Amino acid sequence: MLTLSRRDALKAAAGAGAALLLHRTPALAQSRPFLTRAIPSSGEVIPAVGLGSARTFNVGASRSERAAVKDVLRLFSELGGTFFDTAPTYGTSEGVAGALVQELGIQDELFFATKISTRGGASAGVRQQEASMRSWGRAVIDLNQVHNLRGVETHLPTIRRAKEEGRTRYVGVTTSSIRQYEYLEQVMRAEDLDFVQLNYSLGERQAAERLLQLAQDRGFAVIVNEPYNVGRLFRAVRGQELPVWAADFDCETWGQFFLKYVLAHPAVTVVIPATSDPEHLIDNMAAGLGRLPDEGTRRRMERFFDGLS
Ligand SMILES: NC(=O)c1ccc[n+]([C@@H]2O[C@H](COP(=O)([O-])OP(=O)(O)OC[C@H]3O[C@@H](n4cnc5c(N)ncnc54)[C@H](OP(=O)(O)O)[C@@H]3O)[C@@H](O)[C@H]2O)c1
Repeated sequence: MLTLSRRDALKAAAGAGAALLLHRTPALAQSRPFLTRAIPSSGEVIPAVGLGSARTFNVGASRSERAAVKDVLRLFSELGGTFFDTAPTYGTSEGVAGALVQELGIQDELFFATKISTRGGASAGVRQQEASMRSWGRAVIDLNQVHNLRGVETHLPTIRRAKEEGRTRYVGVTTSSIRQYEYLEQVMRAEDLDFVQLNYSLGERQAAERLLQLAQDRGFAVIVNEPYNVGRLFRAVRGQELPVWAADFDCETWGQFFLKYVLAHPAVTVVIPATSDPEHLIDNMAAGLGRLPDEGTRRRMERFFDGLS
């Protein structure tokens, strides 16, 4: 199990000038176990707070444009994070992250999750897979996913073949659209997968109606994308005080409130908030520390959130 000592946390924060935030986040500055979850198909244990990269890592080539996300990646790794989600179609994100992890020398420490994301045929998918490996300087992708369920019949065999060859460790599919849930359910019933990735947050809870339970029944790990509903959740609580009962599950910020809600669902393996702000990264990592809300408290969080609108 990973542990985060106060010294490590402060050391990590110093470079990003985030000491102020650490003072507001005493849980992070204490020595505590960091929340981990096992991948059902293998038993491999991974930290439950990961990092997304759509938009946030889609930056230019100059050092100044990359400085903030380089800090984000460095802090993520120093604070014990590993699971990094990207895609070849997130603008420059996959290449930028690939260059930065190699500059930081952490490309083999991170859990590299990417996607096949093309309307082209099987050969286009294979080319993307090879390009992903090159851009991260890796001979093995940890998880490759069929992006937005586009071309499941075409690209799942490519990913499975790479798994057989030892060039990919896990197979998955993704969506972030409620309109695709019916099809996702069909795919989950028909295919043997290691991971499914879907959107789930206090603002969009539909995945909990059937899919999260199905993932548990099928033994699939669940990656939660858009845990902040692409930032909308922060806008919904603008000007609102955090309820005092949030302290009962070691929650000190709205970011932790939203992430702990997701992490407390028993089907969830890893949550992947995206940020280009080192202070937000520290805030997000702190959601992996301390207690989580119980079922009754999760219902209370839902009522509280619904009462805002
Ligand atoms: N179909 C798919 O496969 C699919 C679809 C959607 C997303 N994804 C994956 O999931 C990841 C996450 O989803 P997302 O990026 O769409 O949305 P998200 O993580 O729900 O929200 C990101 C937004 O939240 C802000 N934020 C992050 N941490 C914060 C904090 N502690 N306090 C205040 N604001 C904070 C970020 O701004 P700052 O930069 O200012 O922090 C950003 O604007 C993506 O990056 C991608 O890797 C996959």
